Amino acid sequence: MHRLTGLGVVFFLVLHVIDTSWAVFYPALYEKAIKIYQSPLFTIGEFLLVFAVVYHAFNGLRIAIMDNKPELWKYQERAAYIVMGATVLVLVPVFIGMIRHVLAHYAEPVQNLPLTEVLVEQLPFLAGMVVAAIAAVILSAVYGAVVKPEPVTGSAKTNQGSALERFWWSFMRVSGLLIVPLVLGHLAAMHVVQGVFDITAAGAVTVGTNLVNESGTATEFVANRWNFLVAGVAVWRLYDIALLALVTVHGFNGLRYVLTDYTQDSPLLRRAMGYLCVIGALTLLIVGGAALLGTIEPTAIEAAKQALRAH
Ligand code: HEM
Ligand code: HEM
Repeated sequence: MHRLTGLGVVFFLVLHVIDTSWAVFYPALYEKAIKIYQSPLFTIGEFLLVFAVVYHAFNGLRIAIMDNKPELWKYQERAAYIVMGATVLVLVPVFIGMIRHVLAHYAEPVQNLPLTEVLVEQLPFLAGMVVAAIAAVILSAVYGAVVKPEPVTGSAKTNQGSALERFWWSFMRVSGLLIVPLVLGHLAAMHVVQGVFDITAAGAVTVGTNLVNESGTATEFVANRWNFLVAGVAVWRLYDIALLALVTVHGFNGLRYVLTDYTQDSPLLRRAMGYLCVIGALTLLIVGGAALLGTIEPTAIEAAKQALRAH
C-alpha cells in the first residue's frame, strides 16, 4: 500500500507541476488543465489522490518511528491498525467537505469536457515519460560501454551499504516529516476550503489571500496566490518552493527504490532506472522552479480569459 500510494502521488506530481507552470508560460493551456481537473474522471482521481497522500503520510510516519525504535517492533500489527484508523478519521470529514463541493458544482447545469478529450490531453505526458525512459537506457548503455564495472566484494563495509544510500535513507524520513504539514496544508486549501471547482469562481476570494479572483480564471487564482505578500514576503511562493523541492526529491528517490527493486538482475536497466529518476526530478525542479520564480503578467490573465471564452 505504501508503495502503490507513493507511486500514484509521484505520477500525479509530474502532471501537476508541469500543468501549474503553464499559469506562467502558457495561460490558455492552464485554463484547459484546470477544466480537466474539474471533469468527472479527475474528480474520482481527486478522492483517490487525497486518500493516497493521507494514508502514505500516516504510514510513512509509522515507518520512520518504528525504524528508530526497535523496542516497538512487537507492536507492528497494532501500529498498522492505528495508521488505518487515523487515515479513516481524517478522511471522513475531508471527504464530506469535498463531496459538498462536488454536490454544489453539479447542482447547476455543467458542461464537462468529453472523456476522450480528457484522455487524449494526457498523451503528451505519457510520450514525455517514454522519451525520458529511452534516454535513460541509452545513457546507461553508453556508461556501461565506457566504464568497466568494479568487482563486487562481500566485505562487511559493502554490506553496511554506501554512505550515500544511508544519506537517502535518512533523507526519506526527515523529508517525509517536513512534507506532512506542507502537503496536507496544500490539500486542505485546494480541496476543502477552496474546492477544485471554485479555483475558477469569478468574484471569489482566493484561498490564503485577501485578493479576489475577478476574472474567474485559474491563471488569476495562481497569480493571486503567488503575488500575495505578508510583510513584503511572497508566502505562498516560498511555501510552494519548499513543497516542490521536498516532494520532488522524496518522490523520485522513492521511485528509484521501486524501479531498482525490480531491475536487480540487469545492471544496464538498474542504472537506467537511476538515471530516469534523476531526469524526472531535474525536469520538475527546473520547470516548477522557473514558474515559481516567474511573473504572471496582466496580459496572461487576459489571454486566459479569452481562452475560457473560446471554450
Ligand atoms: C488535485 C489536487 C491538487 C490541486 C487542485 C492543486 C492545486 C494547486 C494550485 C492551484 C497550485 C498553484 C499555486 C498555489 O496556488 O499554491 C499548486 C501548486 C503546487 N502544488 Fe498542488 N494541488 C493539488 C495536489 C497537490 C499534491 C498532492 C502535491 C504534492 C504531492 C502538490 C504539489 C504542488 C507543488 C509542488 C506546487 C508548485 C508547482 C510549481 O512550481 O509549478 N499539489 N497546486
Ligand atoms: C506526506 C508525507 C510523507 C511521508 C511521512 C513519507 C514517508 C515515506 C517513508 C518513510 C518512506 C520509506 C522510505 C524507505 O523505504 O527508506 C517513503 C517512501 C516513498 N515515498 Fe513517501 N512520504 C511522504 C510523502 C510522499 C509524497 C508526496 C510522495 C510522492 C511525491 C512520496 C513517494 C514515495 C515513494 C514513491 C516511496 C517509495 C516506496 C517504496 O519504496 O516502496 N511520498 N515515504
